[in-house]
Amino acid sequence: MGSTGADACRRPLTAPVIRDRKVANGADRLVMVTAYDAPGSRAADAAGVDMILVGDSLAMVVLGYDDTLQVTVADMAHHTAAVARARPSALVVGDLPWMSYHVDRAETVRNAAALVRAGAGAVKLEGGRKRLAMVEAIVDAEIPVMGHIGLTPQSVRSLGGFKVQGRTSEGAVQLVSAAKALAHAGAFAIVLEAIPDEVARMVTDAVDVPTIGIGAGPHCDGQVLVYHDVLGIEERIRPKFSRRYAEQGADATDALSRFAADVRRGAFPGPEETYHLSAEVAETLGLYGAAPSAERI
Ligand code: KIV
Repeated sequence: MGSTGADACRRPLTAPVIRDRKVANGADRLVMVTAYDAPGSRAADAAGVDMILVGDSLAMVVLGYDDTLQVTVADMAHHTAAVARARPSALVVGDLPWMSYHVDRAETVRNAAALVRAGAGAVKLEGGRKRLAMVEAIVDAEIPVMGHIGLTPQSVRSLGGFKVQGRTSEGAVQLVSAAKALAHAGAFAIVLEAIPDEVARMVTDAVDVPTIGIGAGPHCDGQVLVYHDVLGIEERIRPKFSRRYAEQGADATDALSRFAADVRRGAFPGPEETYHLSAEVAETLGLYGAAPSAERI
């Protein structure tokens, strides 16, 4: 990838730098993608994304659960550490899982700190006005917080499913109000998930921190997608709002099928994938003709 002006001002990225990236003020749109391990982190960083979200979507796309409610702080710290070990220049955002910021302020701060100690430069949590006290507590502990409103997957039980939010005028007004409150409480950016584009535009215009959309249309200050959706790895779920830029799921099946076929017909491993004794040792062992001498290592 060539070095552009955007590259130069992007690295290293911190929450305060991201906070200033409003499109209305002339900034480039922000790019965030999820990743859950070191190879994913390296790929995302080499692609020049601004932020890597270690999302609790981990539960669904990596760990095979049907929703995000099963992952723990320990799970998130484990995967945040793997992403951070790749030392990306992008800002690593660790997702606080369900029930890690719902009980009390002290526990919330300790859980946010666990993700920072694992390597996150910021944390994300879901919810609007109900979570303001926790946002303030984390910000007070000097940890940058990203908000997340609209469809909040951790609320799947109370929402009655993964449903588009903010379709009514009341719902739209509530989202604008929640976003303003989150920004006032200190959130440095806000994810808007699965809301009509008109509402995303209202929210984006109403707050002075960047909005990062996922299923929220083009009028946000940035966009985020799930790694497995972008790369076509996730076959079970195909959200309307995601776009596949590769078919790695199908490619993986194809590659593994060819490997299996090669093994079954004795075509793998070949001489170049095999270690050989030296001619001298082979001779000592009485293994004359064990392998052609040119292929020995
Ligand atoms: O966990 C996740 O991947 C997320 C994104 C969908 C924003 O929260």
